[in-house]
Amino acid sequence: MSQHLWSGRFDAAPDPAAFDFGISFSFDRRLFEDDVTGSLAWAEALAQAGVLDAADAHAIREGLVEILEHGRRDPAWVNGDDEDVHSFVERQLVARIGDAGRRLHTGRSRNEQVSVDLRLYLRRRIPRLQEALCAVVTALADQAEHAGAALMPSYTHLRRAMPVLVSHYLLSHAAALQRDHARLGQARNEADALPLGSGAIAGTGYPVDTAALAARLGFSRVVANSMDASSDRDFAATFLYATTLAMVHQSRVAEDMILFTSEEFGYFELADASATGSSMMPQKKNPDPLELVRGKAGRSIGHLTGLLVTMKGLPTGYNKDLQEDKEPLFDAEDTLAVSATATAAVVARLTLRSDRTGRAASGLLLATDVADYLVASGMPFRQAHEVVGAMVRQLLTDGRDIEALSLAEWRAFSPLFAEDVKSRITALESVRARRTPQSTNPDAVRSRLADLRAWLAAS
Ligand code: ARG
Repeated sequence: MSQHLWSGRFDAAPDPAAFDFGISFSFDRRLFEDDVTGSLAWAEALAQAGVLDAADAHAIREGLVEILEHGRRDPAWVNGDDEDVHSFVERQLVARIGDAGRRLHTGRSRNEQVSVDLRLYLRRRIPRLQEALCAVVTALADQAEHAGAALMPSYTHLRRAMPVLVSHYLLSHAAALQRDHARLGQARNEADALPLGSGAIAGTGYPVDTAALAARLGFSRVVANSMDASSDRDFAATFLYATTLAMVHQSRVAEDMILFTSEEFGYFELADASATGSSMMPQKKNPDPLELVRGKAGRSIGHLTGLLVTMKGLPTGYNKDLQEDKEPLFDAEDTLAVSATATAAVVARLTLRSDRTGRAASGLLLATDVADYLVASGMPFRQAHEVVGAMVRQLLTDGRDIEALSLAEWRAFSPLFAEDVKSRITALESVRARRTPQSTNPDAVRSRLADLRAWLAAS
């Protein structure tokens, strides 16, 4: 490679020790398609502004389309010694059509070009991540449907709290993932502004119709300020935040399932196909994919933090530091895509052990329901809390459970306990007694599952 896009100003060849350090083609080649898309529209805009004559505009269009087709046919071709993807495309164009190719960059800077490329890239790739999240939500919804009326304990402070439907628990994770889906959509909206026309920083001097250009590229608006646009990577940070929070949520699914499939809990059985063995201990069935998802969340958080730190000290205008936006962004995308795929696969193959979850859902965690029983019979809640607290203390001392109490024993704690206490104080009655739409009430959960199915069908 003899020439760079900026060689004219220099009389010495670049020192490889400095120049090679700045080469970004090995990773920004991923923006190839977007770079060509942006250039096709720019050429059109220059033609409409009368900057390019019809013949040159035609030649540029033909050349770029050929380059795009070549790159799509043979992605490995988009490679080599060029400084970046922008230089590669321009060099290929000039090689094909000569001088007309040298007119394409009129009025345009790589500063805005890399921004438009990245915005186009995110716009086309975010929907794929949303699909990956939908696969996890689908797996959770399927498991929720399967779980039927199965009960399990819910936890606060990782101590048994109140009985819930297993389906209610599974849909709790789906609710967080739905927000992630929406957040990715917001990141996509933020990227949806055309930076072209900003030039290197002060704006372009050619009468380019930016509104028409935005429409041609499918952007809903044009950026407000060329100086801001040249170094604005907020949309990239928003994207990293959205992917990172989605990773945090997958990590929490993973952590739950690592616990719940352990010998200690045994609430779900991890499929053999989702597990790995130990090279030494023959009995082991390890949840490696879940652990990796949990581990990769840390990597994502690092990318978000890294970009924010890169951005925080920049003087106004483009600075080469911004080239550091791409690798974390691409890696965050890949990390979320593979993690969601793995999470969906593991969740889809879980087997619920409703005997164990059901057993764990009864006993002392019905204490709140016992207190509510007394409240229904007229006792103030504070007093009921105290009566039931004493009851729990007694049961713990005796090593017995609520279900083991005879009616006489119930009534010894309070005469308000009547004949119906044994049938009223069960885990199933407990979930039925919840009343709000967001609760574990079986009718409410059935409704939420139907809402979720409708959302999936529309997403
Ligand atoms: N590779 C550069 C980046 O990723 C492209 C923009 C270069 N602009 C410049 N003035 N050097 O940010």
